[in-house]
Amino acid sequence: MIRHLLNPLDFSVEEIDALLDLSDDIQKRPEAYAHVCDGKKLATCFYEPSTRTRLSFESAMLRLGGSIMGFQSANSSSAAKGESVADTSRVISCYADIMAMRHPKEGAPLVASRVATIPVINAGDGGHQHPTQTLTDLLTIRSLKGRLDDLTIGFCGDLKFGRTVHSLIEAMVRYPNVRIILISPQELKVPSYIREDVLRGNNIPFEEVNSLDDALPKLDILYMTRVQKERFFNEEDYIRLKDSYILTSEKMKLAKKDMWVLHPLPRVNEISVEVDDDPRAGYFKQVQYGVYVRMALIMTLLGVKKPC
Ligand code: NCD
Repeated sequence: MIRHLLNPLDFSVEEIDALLDLSDDIQKRPEAYAHVCDGKKLATCFYEPSTRTRLSFESAMLRLGGSIMGFQSANSSSAAKGESVADTSRVISCYADIMAMRHPKEGAPLVASRVATIPVINAGDGGHQHPTQTLTDLLTIRSLKGRLDDLTIGFCGDLKFGRTVHSLIEAMVRYPNVRIILISPQELKVPSYIREDVLRGNNIPFEEVNSLDDALPKLDILYMTRVQKERFFNEEDYIRLKDSYILTSEKMKLAKKDMWVLHPLPRVNEISVEVDDDPRAGYFKQVQYGVYVRMALIMTLLGVKKPC
């Protein structure tokens, strides 16, 4: 059976542990992995802008010895001529061994997976999910904090449209003793399925608050996010909400000494650049972890064994 990654819950907690262990091993001895995907081809099908996700997938496949192909925008693919995602998926299945797809419409990678004859990875679908960013975040948290349980995590910014937030919350509620603080303006609160089904449904202690300053001292992880301009229906709302939260060095004084600041990036201005020099700034480390975890994911979905 072909295995896809469409939602963070497509992998069990045990499978995620194994994937993170494999990522750690790749980080320790990258040379052992340099040819494990020789001859394999990854297609990146991106209908929406991306820097990190696409290039980290490409970097991951190249580091495994495989090769890459793909398109970077809907305009440069046959989508511009009206081709459906399903047809494109059938076609890509003839060219590549594995495909990563980003699309502005929720569910597009799922549609692609139904007709694909190769593994499909959801590289972000609209305001819905972003499971490979979640794997990146899990590896980052486990590496920096040494655990995935017993943590208080604050999510701050655009919790309505931020797909990385939705995916990471879904993944984190499976670990014991996780507490969540949702910090956002009223208009950008999490969608109700996250509040009701994911948080209440799993009996997770959580609060929805407005003030970052009040939440900061309680947190082990602060997950900052950008206000998702491209998903707003009108520009006035975006302009009104875009500067709701700005993390500064002054505010960092309120945080624990061992709190980590994460951000899926790109950052606009929600973390001032002065915070980059704070030893608790983890967002550029997160980028590096994203490559290791995508290497592990490609190997896992292709059924490539860990080298001795
Ligand atoms: C995120 C995304 O695309 O959802 N970026 C990423 O993949 N690291 C976050 C964002 O765009 O704000």
